[in-house]
Parts: sequence; structure tokens; C-alpha cells
Amino acid sequence: MSTDLDATAARIHAALRSAPTSSPSHRALHAKGVLAQGRFTATGALTGRTSAPHLVEGSIPAVVRFSHPGGDPDVADAVPSGRGIAVKLRTPTGSHDLVAVSSPAFLVRDGASFLELLAARAPDPDTGAPDPARMLAFVESHPESLPAVQAAMAARVPASYATLTYNGLHTFFLVDSAGARQPFRYSWVPVGGEQFLEEPPDGFDLAVELAGRLAGPPERVAFDLVVHLGTPGDPTGDPTALWPERPGLVVGRLQLDALAADAGPMIFDPNNVVTGVAVDPDDEILQLRGSVYGLSYRARTSSGDGDGT
Ligand code: HEM
Repeated sequence: MSTDLDATAARIHAALRSAPTSSPSHRALHAKGVLAQGRFTATGALTGRTSAPHLVEGSIPAVVRFSHPGGDPDVADAVPSGRGIAVKLRTPTGSHDLVAVSSPAFLVRDGASFLELLAARAPDPDTGAPDPARMLAFVESHPESLPAVQAAMAARVPASYATLTYNGLHTFFLVDSAGARQPFRYSWVPVGGEQFLEEPPDGFDLAVELAGRLAGPPERVAFDLVVHLGTPGDPTGDPTALWPERPGLVVGRLQLDALAADAGPMIFDPNNVVTGVAVDPDDEILQLRGSVYGLSYRARTSSGDGDGT
């Protein structure tokens, strides 16, 4: 990564940590979360398209972290919001991390815009609340943020972490044994369908809900990995840009069977890929994520306060 991007990453991390609800022992974003474990089993739909065996056949262990996107580890689950999923597929040659959110698009396409966004939504010193006029001005000068902003405004309360579709947003590449590259995006689609709550009960807690679900039949916590193959003209390098709707390939199923409370400090980084999958070298947000997540990990594991899940 360039020195400029490293400096931007450091500024972003410092800005996130300066929020009053940020906790040094937790992630700078996605601070509240819960870990689970299970297995990923390929369907064979990617045969011939990638040299990564785990995406073509067989079954491997997986660790998963579901999260609220904010930096406050004590945020209430009854408040409407998107959510995140971080999946670590433990392949024989290393981790393949698939880290996704329930939004259809990201808010910005570069680090400078992310810093502008953080400034626009920071609390006004006079009122202690964000100033809607500043946020409006940000969207007007960044029309690419509109799909993500609209999704945030329409967010509902999920019935469960297991009843949301999560989208990878970035473009990645499948690489076959001859080195040919095929762009793709992916989603984790809940096998039981999407479900939301109109009136969540008092004290609604998604970690407790997940624990209850995992004690039930196994199909209650399962996701299909759906891959969308890109065609010429689909934008790459830009997680704000939507791809046209088209049918996807179900390339595998993630089946969760237990919480993984004692997994220890973990980092999920979408730049962790293995042979047969490649990252998009033109995606500044993806590069920044690698750096900012490292800073956040180092801060939370050296805070002396343990690693907040
Ligand atoms: C400049 C853009 C972004 C910044 C600065 C950022 C920042 C962060 C930070 C600081 C963390 C905590 C990392 C850790 O301590 O391990 C995090 C986690 C996370 N981010 Fe991002 N993020 C960005 C873009 C995205 C995008 C585009 C997505 C979705 C595709 C995403 C999804 C997630 C998820 C799901 C987690 C939780 C991972 C876990 O459970 O360990 N982020 N992000």
C-alpha cells in the first residue's frame, strides 16, 4: 500500500476511535458481535472456474462473526440497522475471509470521501447530535453514496442474524488453473429466507436469539454462497456501484452448529484470499480495509482489556 493510503488509514482509524462510544478493547467499527462455527460445503457449481479446491468440492471448517456496524459495543439490537457477517473459511492453504454487510452498496469509493463522511456525521458540538444539513450536503456532493444512504434509511430490525442477506460489495476475481480471471461478486443468502421484526420485544438481543437458534434444528442457521459472475461493462474497483440484477450461482452452503465464544482474538480481512481467488487491485476501499482493520486489531488486542468480540 502507498504511504498516502497508509496515512489516510491512520486518520480514519483515529477518527473512528475519537467517537465517544468507541471502546479501546473492541473493534473500531462492528464493535458488537458474536462468534459461531460450522462448515462450508461446495456445490461444484464453480468447477473449472477456479483453482481454489474449497470453492469446488468438499467441506471445510468455518468461523463466523455476526456484528452491528457501529463502533459502540453496547448498541441496542432493537434499533433498525444493517448488520455484518465475517466468514473465515479455514482452507488447507490458509484463510479465505468473506466479509459482507446487509447493504446493497458501500457509501464511498475512496478514503478521502470516507473521512468527509465521518466529519459530516460527527455530532454537532452545540447539540450533541449529528447535523442533518451536513449529511445532506455530503450526499449532494457524493451522489454515488445514494444507494447505501437509502438502504440505511430503510433498514429494519432483523428477526435474527440468520435471516438477513449479506453482500460482499467489492469485485473479486476467480482465477482458473490456466490463470484466466473472471470478475465476480457474492452474497450470503439465508436458507430460511429473510425475516424482520416490526415490534422487537424489550431487551431484544441478537446474540441470545442466535444461541437459541443454534440449539434447534441445524437448517435454522445456514446460508448459501451465491456468486454473481461479472460481464464486460460491469464496474470494478468501486463498491458504491451496483451491478445489474441477474441470477447467481449457488456455489456452496455455510452451515453453523454452535457458538464459538472461546475463539480468541481474530481478524477478518477481505484481502485474505487463497490461490484461485484474487482481489481487485483498483479498489481503494478494499486496500484501505486491510490497513484500517490491522490498526483496529492492534489497538484492541493491546488495550490491556482483552479482545472484545
Ligand atoms: C473505508 C472503508 C471501511 C472502513 C474504514 C472500515 C472499517 C472497519 C473497521 C475499523 C473494522 C473493525 C476491524 C477489526 O478490528 O478487526 C471493520 C469491520 C468490519 N467491516 Fe468494515 N470498513 C470499511 C468498509 C467496509 C465494507 C465495504 C464492508 C462490507 C463489504 C465492511 C464490512 C465490515 C464487517 C462485516 C466488519 C466486521 C468484521 C468482524 O466481524 O471482524 N466494511 N470495518
